[in-house]
Amino acid sequence: MSQRIYLPKYLDIGANAVANLPLLLADLRCKKPLVLSDKVMDNIGNVSRIRDLLAKHDIASDQFLDTMTEPDEASLLPAVELFKSGGFDCIIALGGGSVIDSAKAIGLLAKHGGRMRDYKVPHIVNEEIVPIVAIPTTAGTGSEVTKVTIITDNDTDEKMLCMGPGLLPVASIIDYELSMTAPARIAADTGIDALTHAIEAYVSQKAGLFTEQLALSAMGLIAPNLREAVNNPKNLLAKEKIMLGANMAGMAFSNASVALVHGMSRPIGAHFHVPHGMSNAMLLPDITEFSIPSAIDKYADCARAMGIADKHESDKVAVAALIEELVQLNADLGVPSLAEFGVKEAEYFDSLDLMAEQAIASGSPGNNPKVPSKEDIIQLYRKVWH
Ligand SMILES: [Fe+2]
Repeated sequence: MSQRIYLPKYLDIGANAVANLPLLLADLRCKKPLVLSDKVMDNIGNVSRIRDLLAKHDIASDQFLDTMTEPDEASLLPAVELFKSGGFDCIIALGGGSVIDSAKAIGLLAKHGGRMRDYKVPHIVNEEIVPIVAIPTTAGTGSEVTKVTIITDNDTDEKMLCMGPGLLPVASIIDYELSMTAPARIAADTGIDALTHAIEAYVSQKAGLFTEQLALSAMGLIAPNLREAVNNPKNLLAKEKIMLGANMAGMAFSNASVALVHGMSRPIGAHFHVPHGMSNAMLLPDITEFSIPSAIDKYADCARAMGIADKHESDKVAVAALIEELVQLNADLGVPSLAEFGVKEAEYFDSLDLMAEQAIASGSPGNNPKVPSKEDIIQLYRKVWH
C-alpha cells in the first residue's frame, strides 16, 4: 500500500532559526505579513521581537493578538476582517497550537469565505489558503507541519476537525529557544500530546513505512526527555529534542492520522474544557490497554523506541512496561483525573452517549488498530473516570 505525504515547502530548524524569517518571506514573495499571536507572547516580548526584525528589513507588518485558546469560529472573524481590509499577503502565526490552528482557519475564511462547518470532515480542504508561516512556541501539537485544524462550532460546541493539504503552512520555523518560556503545565500537556501523536500515528491503520520511521524517531526524542524538559526548562538539549520530536510526530500523524485517543479526547475538550493534551493524557493508558491485543507487536515497538524495553524482551513484557510507563508519566507530570480537574460526575455520565457519537463521527476511532463499537467507547469513557 502506498502513502501520499504532505509537508510544508520550507522548514527552518534549530537555535535562532527565527532570524531567517525576513529571508524566508523574500523567498515566498511575501511583502506584507499579518502577525497573528496572543497576549502572552506579546507580554514576554516575542511579538515585538518578530516585528522589530521585520522592520529592520523594511517589511511593514501589523498584528492581531486576540486569538483564543482552543479557538472557536467567532474568535476568528475579527482577524478575517482585518486581513481582508489591510492588504496583507501572508500570516505569520507565532504561538502554540491554538494560534497556528487559528491562522489556518483565518487563512481559509479570508480567501474562500463561508462557515468553518462547511470545511469539516468529510470535506477535504484542497482550497489554497493564504500563505501561513508558522513559528511554534510550544513543543506539542505539531500544527506547524500538519494539514489539520480544530475549530469549535459556537452553536453546537463541537470541536470540528478540518483537514486537507490546503491547510498546510507553506513554511515553518522550528526554533526551540522560543519554547523555553512555556509554563510547566503547558509544556507537560503539549509534550504528552506529541507523544500521543507519535504512538497513534505508529499504530494507525493508515500508517506506512515513512510515517512509522518518523513516529519511532519522535518517540525516541520525546519519551526519555519529557520529564527533564518540563522540570528543568533551561535544559537546552532536552528542549531541542522535545521540539524536534513534536515536529516529527506532527509530520507522522498528519500523514497517517491519529486514532482512538484523539477521537475520544476532542469531545471531552469540547464539553468540559479540558486542555487538549491533558485530555489525551487522561485517556492514553486505558485506550492503549484496550488497543494492545490487536497490535501487540506495534505497541511493543513503541515501548522499545521510548527506551523502556530492550529488543531482547518479549512483546508481552514490553507492552506491560508501556502501560506502566504511561501511568507513571501522568503521575510524574501531575496530570489530574477528570474529577480532580473539576468535571462534574453527573454531567460527564449524562454526556457519554453524545460524546461517543461525536468521537465516531470524527473518523479517528476508525484508524485504531482495534476499531471500537459505540458501546466500547462508552465503556472506555466510564473506565477513565477514576
Ligand atoms: Fe493532538
